[in-house]
Amino acid sequence: MLNGIPQPAFYIFKCQQSAPPGMPKPSCVSQNSPESQELFQHLSQSLMQKGIIATVQPIQTSCLNRCQQGPVMLVEPGHTMYVELTKEKVDKIIDEHIIGGNVVDEYVIAEEAWGEAIAPADMAR
Ligand code: FES
Repeated sequence: MLNGIPQPAFYIFKCQQSAPPGMPKPSCVSQNSPESQELFQHLSQSLMQKGIIATVQPIQTSCLNRCQQGPVMLVEPGHTMYVELTKEKVDKIIDEHIIGGNVVDEYVIAEEAWGEAIAPADMAR
């Protein structure tokens, strides 16, 4: 058993789904947007540069089902879904939310696109 290794304070799930070329559906990583292709690396590098990578774990995920508003990433704990990301927005989220403790409301998904979660106990058969 390992002692004394703290759990991460945050997990940041960055959608890395990319649609195949010619596919009309939008995706968070796009062939036509170099910035979208660099966002995960930018996120990881910024966490490293700020010295917090040991307590904030960036994770690459597949589609989080909010493709129309990509690039997106989900911050846990808190179920905070950030949309239409750029490098600049990622940096602001790290400074104000992850380090500062205040959700950056202007980048959060609209409430109607992110309704309350349904408890699995209410759905289970
Ligand atoms: S492709 Fe990123 S949410 Fe679907």
